[in-house]
Amino acid sequence: MQGAVRDFNHDWKFAKGEQPDVARDLQFDDSTWESVRIPHDWAISGPFDESASGSTGKLPWTGVGWYRKKFTVEAGSDRRVYLDFDGVMAFPKVYINGELAGQWDYGYMSFRVDATPHIRFGEENVVAVEVDTRRHGSRWYPGAGIYRKVRMTIANPLHIAHWGTFVTTPSVSDWRATVRVRSTVDNHSSSDRELDVAVTIRDPEGNVVATGEKRGIAPAEGTVEVDQQMFVDAPARWDLEHPNLYTAETIVRSSGEVVDGETVTFGIRTFSFDPDRGFFLNGERVQLKGVNLHHDLGALGAAFNQRAMERQLQIMQEMGVNAVRTSHNAPAPEVLELCDRMGIFVWDECFDKWNATADNLAGPENVLPMAVRQLDNFVRRDRNHPCVFIWSVGNEIGTSVDERGDGMSFGRLEGMRTCIRQLDDTRPVGIGCHTPNTVRYPVYDPLDLTGWNYGRRYARYREAYPNNPILYSESASTVSTRGHYAFPLANNKTDYPGGTGHVSSYDLSATSWSDIPDCEFQLMEDDRFVGGEFVWTGFDYLGEPTPNRRDARSSYFGIVDLAGIPKDRYHLYRSHWRPNAKTIHILPHWNWPDRIGKKTPVFVYTNGDSAELFLNGRSLGRRTKGVVPPKPTNLAAAKPTMTSDGASAEAAVDGDDDTAWRHTDSGGTPWVQVDLQEVQPVEQIDLALGDSVGDAGYAIRVSRDGTDWSTIANIEPRTAGSRGWGRRAGGPRATYDLTDQNVQARFVRVEFTDLSDKSTADVKELKIYSARYEPEYYDVTYKYRLRWNDVIYEPGELKVVAYKDGAKIGESVMRTAGPPTSLRLTPDRTELLPTGEDLSFILVEAVDAEGNVAPLANDILTFQVSGGGELAAVSNGDQLSLDSFQDNRHPLFNGKAMLIVRSKQGEVSPIQVTVRAEGMEPATLSITVSQ
Ligand code: GAL
Repeated sequence: MQGAVRDFNHDWKFAKGEQPDVARDLQFDDSTWESVRIPHDWAISGPFDESASGSTGKLPWTGVGWYRKKFTVEAGSDRRVYLDFDGVMAFPKVYINGELAGQWDYGYMSFRVDATPHIRFGEENVVAVEVDTRRHGSRWYPGAGIYRKVRMTIANPLHIAHWGTFVTTPSVSDWRATVRVRSTVDNHSSSDRELDVAVTIRDPEGNVVATGEKRGIAPAEGTVEVDQQMFVDAPARWDLEHPNLYTAETIVRSSGEVVDGETVTFGIRTFSFDPDRGFFLNGERVQLKGVNLHHDLGALGAAFNQRAMERQLQIMQEMGVNAVRTSHNAPAPEVLELCDRMGIFVWDECFDKWNATADNLAGPENVLPMAVRQLDNFVRRDRNHPCVFIWSVGNEIGTSVDERGDGMSFGRLEGMRTCIRQLDDTRPVGIGCHTPNTVRYPVYDPLDLTGWNYGRRYARYREAYPNNPILYSESASTVSTRGHYAFPLANNKTDYPGGTGHVSSYDLSATSWSDIPDCEFQLMEDDRFVGGEFVWTGFDYLGEPTPNRRDARSSYFGIVDLAGIPKDRYHLYRSHWRPNAKTIHILPHWNWPDRIGKKTPVFVYTNGDSAELFLNGRSLGRRTKGVVPPKPTNLAAAKPTMTSDGASAEAAVDGDDDTAWRHTDSGGTPWVQVDLQEVQPVEQIDLALGDSVGDAGYAIRVSRDGTDWSTIANIEPRTAGSRGWGRRAGGPRATYDLTDQNVQARFVRVEFTDLSDKSTADVKELKIYSARYEPEYYDVTYKYRLRWNDVIYEPGELKVVAYKDGAKIGESVMRTAGPPTSLRLTPDRTELLPTGEDLSFILVEAVDAEGNVAPLANDILTFQVSGGGELAAVSNGDQLSLDSFQDNRHPLFNGKAMLIVRSKQGEVSPIQVTVRAEGMEPATLSITVSQ
């Protein structure tokens, strides 16, 4: 009889917290435990803990949890019984009928437990799994529990080993491909066994295109590998547009009887990296347009769900993505199946660091043994997938040349590469790096390629290793909150205007180490030797809420928010990555009751090269990509100055930062002022102070006539504990953007207060502009976006008409919405399968009487889901929201929220969904459930 693989995900019982030893036993009464279905993440239901660390999502993932399941295995004592876990967070101990049958020491890794010696054949058995996340280290939300699938494999004593079929295509041409199938067969019997391995290759249509058969002898209690090659004529290549998949079916016979069989999927393709020209697939250069994806699925948590993952990938692919990096861990196996099918490359990454984030608690000596043990499972599991094109052994790991710490050394990287290449010599082995200086050490010598994170840090490596390929493994790390806009625009990538804990979605904000998307587009155009970029990140994820680590629970890095709703920059990427697909996207929304008469910049993301913007039918001009608007001139340059001490202050307005006006007497309120010689609009003041200013405070005052002064900025002195106005190399600098303040002035004065004995009033440069002076850093945005910076807000209709090569490609409209009157439901799918895991993602929007989304609506929604489905989760993408993902009430955020509905297993009846909000028409929806 052939072996059998059983779904083992149903009818589990779960209890949180430590349990007595008897919880491992069959007799234990678990009737009070919760009934759960695997995959299960015990922490995603919360509650959020406001005081807990934002870095790991403020959710209760730390602790112990127990799972139990009863099962029977038919009588027949020569069976082998295995439990195959795709991932358990973390440190699982698997007990069968009270006895420890196996355990694993890395929460992201798939593993097999041999249950055979503990099984009572023909009787009831119990498996109990103890899970303990307390020692698991994480820089993000890891989830908790048996969060990936489990299978039970029942096999003959002679069977195909776990992940025992390995298919490669050693030679590929248009007329023929060689397919090599290596089959590892385990023999658990006490005598040698002759066997016969028959392989059938089928093409993507299911036609048999090659067969092979070979004999072998598996020694008693041993293993044999049967290695055979076949030809496939005129192979249909796997590529991004045509992800053609072949199958190899393996049947093992012994003494004329079929003892085991399995079918694996593979692809026929060639790829290569060229250190000077980038990445090639089937002989053609492919620009990798990649994203990093963490393993959580937003409101569904870490519990893997195939449809939720497929949806993420579909959204990414629609944007133009052709590659993902599984940052920073082994993904669920289904991720690779999906990418095989969808034509998406995978940078398959095994670890973040090699410390507690890899569950290595045993220190430096354990780094290599731990890595080798995990890589063995990792590579065996994933090596048949055509989507996998890189094995990555880590991310941003420091060096530890002498191996006294847990960092990179020559020996460790050599050891890891050797382990991988013995299991698969068809893919390069690399790592994600971040410290250019590390190339001083020969640690990278063993690796085939490296990825570099941010800021063109790969430059040093390229000098040191001109013959090794490079990828941009993390780019951008732009931060934003969907639907949130702050004024005036950011003047610096790290100044996060608005101060509400949300980050403006004008896509001008990043972190100190990272950049806005446009910089990376430019870099990838210039550096063709780089295979492509992997943006940090495709989706927001739970945890790591830089730049608001204390208060928020989820990241700001995503191109798409945590609820799965695209942010503005989704359209920026799409416009650039899919130049032939129509994208015409306007931002911001157009509901600014308190901005009437104020400058409210409008950006358009389009694949067109120019566009004309209309406000209430009036043209606001046409903009063309690549045209950087001229910078305003400095009104203060060489203008007359006055000072409190009567000394000359020319040095403060001479355009030279190396000279300064300096008032050396301590105390008092020394000031310097410039006379613009006529009353002018003042929209921006840039101030560069000298170091000797110390921690003084200062005020900026303006006047039309030199007698009547108003204060436009008052900066407190810097005191211990306060951030004050900050220091920078070369002295403090500050920019005051007054666009919203309508300042008209002839005189501008800087007046110091609280000068300590050691401080001097010291102004290197005072610059005054009548229009916003945007830093040169943002010039590149004009190449990829169309920007109207000076639109004076009035409610109504914004319309943009976009052109490409002179021809109109389309138009787009953004209207001021009236008060929300009803809710609109837009499901991604209206037909589900009764599998108990099929999902419909229903976008909920508050709309006005005309159907415009009300972008400021934050009303509380309540949900009712009945019939053949249930509420799986709800979220709204607000990084600061601590509302439960599993409640039947949840607020809208900036007009939107996402409701996730799941079919019930075996129930073939429609799902009725009703969503309500006070004062609005409720919305209803019916979803069909059928086989
Ligand atoms: C990188 C790191 C990522 C993430 C990212 C945020 O340095 O590799 O895991 O933390 O920064 O920008």
